[in-house]
Amino acid sequence: AKTIVKDKLDRPLRDLRISVIDRCNFRCQYCMPAEIFGPDFAFLPKNELLSYEEIERLAKIFVSLGVEKIRLTGGEPLMRKDMPKLVKMLSDIEGLKDIGLTTNGVLLPKHAKDLKEAGLVRVNISLDSLDDELFGKINGRNVGVKPVLKGIEAAKEAGLGVKLNMVVKKGLNDSEIVPMAKFCKDNGLQLRFIEYMDVGSTNGWKMDEVVTKKEIYSILKEHYLLEPVDPDYFGEVAKRYRYKGTDVDVGFITSVSESFCSSCTRSRLSANGQIFTCLFNGEGHDLKGFMRKGATDEEITDRIVNIWKGRKDRYSDERTEETIASRKKIEMSYIGG
Ligand code: GTP
Ligand code: 5AD
Ligand code: SF4
Ligand code: SF4
Repeated sequence: AKTIVKDKLDRPLRDLRISVIDRCNFRCQYCMPAEIFGPDFAFLPKNELLSYEEIERLAKIFVSLGVEKIRLTGGEPLMRKDMPKLVKMLSDIEGLKDIGLTTNGVLLPKHAKDLKEAGLVRVNISLDSLDDELFGKINGRNVGVKPVLKGIEAAKEAGLGVKLNMVVKKGLNDSEIVPMAKFCKDNGLQLRFIEYMDVGSTNGWKMDEVVTKKEIYSILKEHYLLEPVDPDYFGEVAKRYRYKGTDVDVGFITSVSESFCSSCTRSRLSANGQIFTCLFNGEGHDLKGFMRKGATDEEITDRIVNIWKGRKDRYSDERTEETIASRKKIEMSYIGG
């Protein structure tokens, strides 16, 4: 039987984003800048990561509290060994309706088929440019576009749902808006333009580097006819449009210019087993320690219920210069976006 819990702003607990590892094979400037995440950076040691059994146990409890959707993230989730094994353990949980994975795509040719067989439904693949040189600069590892395109192909061939995520940063890749739109439209892929966010404290975010949905939309409008599409489900993050006369959508994730906190049903589990109630709220609640000290399922359930009941986060609604400067924030690579 499911218990429904609501937070202080009446939002149910519907989604769980699980970061399985804090490492990544890329060093995107806006997420894990290479100057900071260098060779000496202290990533989590293996025993600090939740084991698959621990993740499964927590996921079951979350599902009993109303979670229907799980998204696996990182860092780069495919850097963790045996991900299909975890996917299988999670997809066997009764009551779970959707399981997705957010990835940079380069390891998909190796794993897409096994992930699909294990029960993965879909992947969101990040790609910020179709230009090799620019993309290599953005990902900080000089990786060209081809490995990602191969990942996209592999995911499609395996029968996974595929969406593309493009973070747009002014002066960096806004020139790629139209080429990416064209590429995705021609290939029947849903592209989502993401407003550059002030996550963490290492990316040096500035408001004037954000390209807003309004700006992107007006660029697209010069090339295409777009019709708004209703959300697929309550609290869908992206606002979507359809290219007229096609069945291809394009979306916008407007965390900065049009926040969507009032319908935010997302909880986040970090790689080392802390619960976060908002992408921008750095106060984690430790479940790993609690679990490893021998807490029962009932005790863990109670703790999660209490965390959710106390939740009043609406950071993007409240974002001001002041909150940006004063908040204790958490790195994207640690919490998975
Ligand atoms: P779908 O289930 O396919 O809709 O996935 P998603 O868009 O929720 O997840 P994805 O990992 O692809 O994230 C896309 C972008 O949305 C990333 O930049 C995330 O950081 C951002 N995002 C996802 N959830 C939230 C949220 O609750 N708040 C904010 N501010 N951004 C979010
Ligand atoms: N702003 C917006 N999106 C970001 N992502 C990573 N860092 C940021 C940021 N600062 C995106 C990635 C990936 C998703 C999980 O989050 O590109 O698509
Ligand atoms: Fe890695 Fe994704 Fe962060 Fe880029 S955005 S550094 S691919 S986790
Ligand atoms: Fe949810 Fe926080 Fe994002 Fe608002 S800013 S949508 S509360 S995660």
